[in-house]
Amino acid sequence: MEYGPAPESTKEAQAWLEQHGRQFGLFIDNAWTAPGETFASINPADAAKLADLTQATSADVDRAVAAARAAQPGWQALGGHGRAKVMYALARLLQKHSRLFAVLETLDNGKTIRETRDVDLPLAARHFYYHAGWAQLQAEEFADYRAVGVVGQIVPWNFPLLMLSWKIAPALAAGNTVVFKPAEFTSLTALLFAEICVQAGVPAGVVNIVTGDGSVGEAIVKHEGIDKLAFTGSTEVGRLIRQATAGSGKKLSLELGGKSPFIVFEDADLDAAVEGLVDSIWFNQGQVCCAGSRLLVQESVQDKFLAKLRARMDKLTLGSPLDKSMDIGALVDPVQKQRIEGLVQSARDEGCTVYQPACELPTDGSWFPPTLITGASTSAAVAQAEIFGPVLVAMSFRTPPEVVQLANNTVYGLAACVWTENISLALDVAPQIKAGVVWINTANQFDAACGFGGYRESGFGREGGREGMYEYLTALSEDARPAAPVVEAKAKAKAAVPAGSPFGIDRTAKMYIGGKQARPDGAYSRAIHGADGSFIAEVGEGSRKDIRNAVEAAHKAGGWTKATSHNRAQVLYYIAENLAARGEEFAARIAAMTGTKNAEKEVQASIERLFYYAAWADKYDGLAHQPPMHGITVALNEPLGVIGIVCPNESPLLGFISLVAPAIALGNRVVVVPSEAHPLSATDLYQVFDTSDLPGGVVNIVTGSADELARTLATHSDIDAVWRHDGSAEGCAEVERLSAASLKRTWVGGAKGRDWYSTAQAGGRAVLAHASQVKNIWIPYGV
Ligand code: NAI
Repeated sequence: MEYGPAPESTKEAQAWLEQHGRQFGLFIDNAWTAPGETFASINPADAAKLADLTQATSADVDRAVAAARAAQPGWQALGGHGRAKVMYALARLLQKHSRLFAVLETLDNGKTIRETRDVDLPLAARHFYYHAGWAQLQAEEFADYRAVGVVGQIVPWNFPLLMLSWKIAPALAAGNTVVFKPAEFTSLTALLFAEICVQAGVPAGVVNIVTGDGSVGEAIVKHEGIDKLAFTGSTEVGRLIRQATAGSGKKLSLELGGKSPFIVFEDADLDAAVEGLVDSIWFNQGQVCCAGSRLLVQESVQDKFLAKLRARMDKLTLGSPLDKSMDIGALVDPVQKQRIEGLVQSARDEGCTVYQPACELPTDGSWFPPTLITGASTSAAVAQAEIFGPVLVAMSFRTPPEVVQLANNTVYGLAACVWTENISLALDVAPQIKAGVVWINTANQFDAACGFGGYRESGFGREGGREGMYEYLTALSEDARPAAPVVEAKAKAKAAVPAGSPFGIDRTAKMYIGGKQARPDGAYSRAIHGADGSFIAEVGEGSRKDIRNAVEAAHKAGGWTKATSHNRAQVLYYIAENLAARGEEFAARIAAMTGTKNAEKEVQASIERLFYYAAWADKYDGLAHQPPMHGITVALNEPLGVIGIVCPNESPLLGFISLVAPAIALGNRVVVVPSEAHPLSATDLYQVFDTSDLPGGVVNIVTGSADELARTLATHSDIDAVWRHDGSAEGCAEVERLSAASLKRTWVGGAKGRDWYSTAQAGGRAVLAHASQVKNIWIPYGV
């Protein structure tokens, strides 16, 4: 059956544009600025100009930040209920004007009206409803937290209003004020949203909207008045932002690109999987960060599945996005079309087969047909790069282990789909895939209650759910952190001596790698002196090679991650018990190194901290969400993998334990650089570990220069996160900067120290959150 055209009217949207004279200034402090230097906003479906928008200057950004700063205390003081009422009004107004928003979005972006009407708008409103709820509950549920302050938010063009909601709703709920920048291609719904803010009673300065290109984004990123940045967009710009904010103390969340696998097992309902694939890769013309752009289909059903898929592709309708019967609309801009064409051509050049249904493309605007590429190697550009268009690359696999390996063969880790009728297989594969979201027998499902965000180079931080709220909150205990004590110069000044040299005394503590004591690769050691200046012992001078060996050992200890949390808790208790048995010895060592009178207290606190994290090991459970679908979404707290840790100099045993214990309690393996000045209570732990059933490679210890070893950790491609807490502001900034290349998670203390005795500062969910990342597994059910 053929459908006739069913165009949606643009009358209301055009009238709104006319009402503004098709010219917009910026929205600052609840008022419009006069338009400045402008750029055109174009309808990508017919290349017609919709309006002229203002390119904000850095002075405009200053004004917006100042307005947000001035408004923040009042917004916070409004209280949870006060904010909830305003946010509820925003949700209601979004619903009330949803048709206008949907049409405007379609005009501006080129996505079909079916999607803006049925997906973007309902989800945007849902975000404000859901977060109105968190505002209401904030005092109860986040009592130990405060708003971060002024938040800078930068979004891309693929889901303009929905991304705005993902950003603004949690920020406002938590009591922050916002400077928001939409993408230059698609700013109109953000500007309409500004009007809704006034109607909803959002106080002046709470939401500020500045338009313009990447330079406006840069001005926001660099602005000293911004306390937190939330960015969604390309991995390339995400990296730049990580570098630009290194050492600034700004909180950061990045939601970046993806190359998500869509896995079809032979027992899947193939027709349902084809429909799922349509939703996964042809939704929004494939301009979706979590698009299922890599089809991995089991060899036994490959031909059958691809035949069904081609037949379905032939039926996809492409044309005017305002036509309610269209499946595929226009690409956002000719520049995207060129990029996609280039990548598809590269596949043709490499001899791949490119299938595109015979469909007529409109002559004006930017269009690209649905495309299926077969015969690509796993390393081909089309198999690795984020194409961000309606292009699917298909490959086959034979066994579940092979598909896990193929699925993870990417630098990204945003999402994955698993199609099988075998629940046991699905739930076995899902945790093995390195991705923040896994959809089982479904695709591209989103809900405000279920966190969304990436693993690896897909970024860090989550949007939605409880975890998303923490991105906009600061623990009160952070405010009470003391300045980091200065490292005693004595310990640092001693030059390294070759190990075993006739001038050295043979009391050299070795490294601890893979559960064995190992000599430093460079055969150098450094002298460690006590508080009174006397020589105590030497420790190995760790090098790049020692770190490499330690990382390798940590990777080999993957069994620790698979061990039960009960088992991990037992090992931590056992370490505590063995440490207690040698408590006096450890206390004497600490006293000799640091001169403290509190050495016994430090040992006791370390034992208690081990008990504390042993207790958490089997209690840091995830959540089961019930989003609006027939099924559940299971949010799992997964370990990060291998964490590099640089320990503080103060409280050398307690600091070490306070960082290592939470990491390993949750199943991570660690490469630890103990206190540079006082490393001996860490090297004394080797025997404690050996007698506590801690598997080799779970904790690896490399002594030496904190700066040098931190640099190696931050640049190592096989380390997932780096923590640095030795009070070196410069060193912490460097870790953040260097981590940008592979977008590692970082947790750094900067120039501030921590009261390691305080559970509020060295314990709690905030620390556990640093040691884990949330994976949401969507499991719809029913027949
Ligand atoms: P982009 O990352 O350049 O732009 C996203 C946002 O960041 C826009 O608002 C832009 O104005 C802003 N921006 C650009 N440079 C900036 C800078 N130096 N500092 C701060 N903000 C800056 O993405 P673009 O150029 O629009 O798209 C290029 C490619 O990026 C796409 O083909 C796609 O592969 C990927 N992409 C991924 C998205 C995702 O959701 N993961 C969204 C958009 C693009």
